[in-house]
Amino acid sequence: MSNTFYITTPIYYVNDKPHIGHAYTTILADVLARYHRNTEKKTFFLTGLDEHGQKVQQAAEERGVEAQQHCDEMAPRFTELWEQLHISHDDFIRTTEERHKKVVRDILQQVMDKGDIYEAEYEGLYSVSEERFITEKEAESGEFRDIKQLKEKNYFFKMSKYQQALIDHIKSNPKFIQPDHRKNEILGFLRQPLNDLCISRPKSRLNWGIELPFDSDYVTYVWFDALINYITAPGFGRDEESFNKWWPASYHLIGKDILTTHAVYWPTMLMSAGIELPKTIFAHGWWLMGESKMSKSLGNVINPMDLIDDYGVDPVRYYLMREMVLGQDSSFTMESFIQRYNSDLANDFGNLLSRVSTLMKKNFGGKIPEPGDFTEAEAVIKSNGELLGEVVKEKIEAMRLNEAIEEIMQYIRSVNKYMENNAPWKLVKDDKDAAGRVLYTAGEALRIGAVLLSPVMPNRTAILLDVLNAKGTNLNWGGLTPGNELQNHEPLFPRMN
Ligand code: ME8
Ligand code: MG
Repeated sequence: MSNTFYITTPIYYVNDKPHIGHAYTTILADVLARYHRNTEKKTFFLTGLDEHGQKVQQAAEERGVEAQQHCDEMAPRFTELWEQLHISHDDFIRTTEERHKKVVRDILQQVMDKGDIYEAEYEGLYSVSEERFITEKEAESGEFRDIKQLKEKNYFFKMSKYQQALIDHIKSNPKFIQPDHRKNEILGFLRQPLNDLCISRPKSRLNWGIELPFDSDYVTYVWFDALINYITAPGFGRDEESFNKWWPASYHLIGKDILTTHAVYWPTMLMSAGIELPKTIFAHGWWLMGESKMSKSLGNVINPMDLIDDYGVDPVRYYLMREMVLGQDSSFTMESFIQRYNSDLANDFGNLLSRVSTLMKKNFGGKIPEPGDFTEAEAVIKSNGELLGEVVKEKIEAMRLNEAIEEIMQYIRSVNKYMENNAPWKLVKDDKDAAGRVLYTAGEALRIGAVLLSPVMPNRTAILLDVLNAKGTNLNWGGLTPGNELQNHEPLFPRMN
C-alpha cells in the first residue's frame, strides 16, 4: 500500500460564482483528504480555478473588464467559500499562474517533438458554448447552443494513435474509471474510432489562453491547458522529488459532465508525454433541485453561502455527504435538509451528548465517572465501537460515504437505546456505580462516533470532544479519562423548525 494520497477536484471556471455543485465536489474531496490524514497517510489535496478560454473571456467582456482582472476578482469568491466551508486543501492552483503556463508549454513542446501534433485545415460545425468542434450527430441532438460552420487551420493532437492503448489500460486497471457504469460508458464510446483532438484556437477568434510554444498566432485549447494543472501543482518539471512523491494521483474527483475529457483526453495526453496515468478517475452524479437540473435560467441555484449562514457549515457538509449515493444523482430539497438535520443531528447525535453531559453534571460533579465492571450490555457497545472503525474504513475506501455515515448513526442510535434501557437517571438513586458505568460507556461510544465523523463535521465534532475533555483521542476504546472535567457547551445541534 502506498503511503501517499493525492486527491484533486476539477478546477472550476471563473465565469460564474460557485454554487452547491462546486461546493459538493470540494467537500467530498475534503472529507476524503481529512480521512486519509487521520490514517496517517501523507496527503496532498489540490483544488483551483480554470481561468482561460472562451467562457471566461466572454464573462469578462460582459462585465467590461480585462480577462485577468475578471479572474482576479472572481478568485476570492471561491477561496472565501472554501474558507467558510473549512476546506483543507494543500494547494490552490490558478491556470493563469506562471508555474502552470510553463508546464503547459513544456508538455505541448514534448508532444510536438514526439510527432503527436500536426497542423491541418478543418472545416466543420463548432459549438461556441462547448468551445469545440462537434459532429453532425451531436449538432442534431439539440444539446449544443451557438453552432456555426467554421473553416480554420489548427493544430491537432493525435489522440487516435492512443485509442487501443487506452482501451487496454482501462481493461487491465479495473479501478481506473469509477464507478463501473461510467467505465462501461467510456468503453462504449471507445468502440467508435476516436478522432484527433483540436488543441489550438486562432488568436483572431480567441486570445485568452496560453500561446502555443511553436506558433504565436494560436493559443492552447482550454481543456489541454486545464487538465495539466494536476501535474503542475505537485511539481512537474519544477520539483522532481515532490512530483515523484505525489504522482500518480490517487483520485481525480469529477462530476459526470466532464468524464470524457478526464477519461479520454487526459490519459492519452499523458501517454504521449510519457507520464504515468492517475490511479482512479471517479465521476459522481448530479445534484438536482428537486426533480430538475440546477440552472441559473431556472433560478433554482442554491448559494452555499446562504445555507451556511442559516444553518452552519457542518450540517451542510453532513447533509451533502449523507444524502448522495456516490455515482448516482441526488435531489436537494430544503425539506429533506431539515428532516435529515433534525433526525440525525438534533435527535440522535446532539441529544446523546446533552443527555450524557447533563447527567454527569447533575450526578457526578461534572466529571467523567469511572467505567466500573462491564456487564454484557457494555461489552456489546464496546466491541461494536471497535468494529465500527473497520466498517467505516472499508466503506470509505469503497467510496460508499453515505453508508459509512449511516453505520455511525446506527451505532449512535443503538447507544441512545442502551441509555433508555438502562435509565441512568433512575439507576443513580440505588446504584450510583452502575449509573456511572452506563454514562461512561455512552460517553465513550459518543466520543468514538465523533472521531469517526470528524472528517465530515470537523467543527462540531471538535466542540464535542472538547466538551468531553477528550481532544486528540483516537479510535481506541477508553479515550475518556475518569475524573476529567466536562466543559460547558451550547446545544450542539438545536432543533430546527
Ligand atoms: O467543467 N451537481 O468547470 P465547472 C454536482 N473548468 N456537481 C456539480 C454540479 C451539480 N449540479 N454542478 C457542478 C469545468 N458540479 C472545468 C473543469 S478540470 C481540469 C476542468 C461540479 O466550473 C462537478 O464537479 O463547470 C462538475 O464536474 C464541476 O462542478 C464542473 O465545474
Ligand atoms: Mg460546467
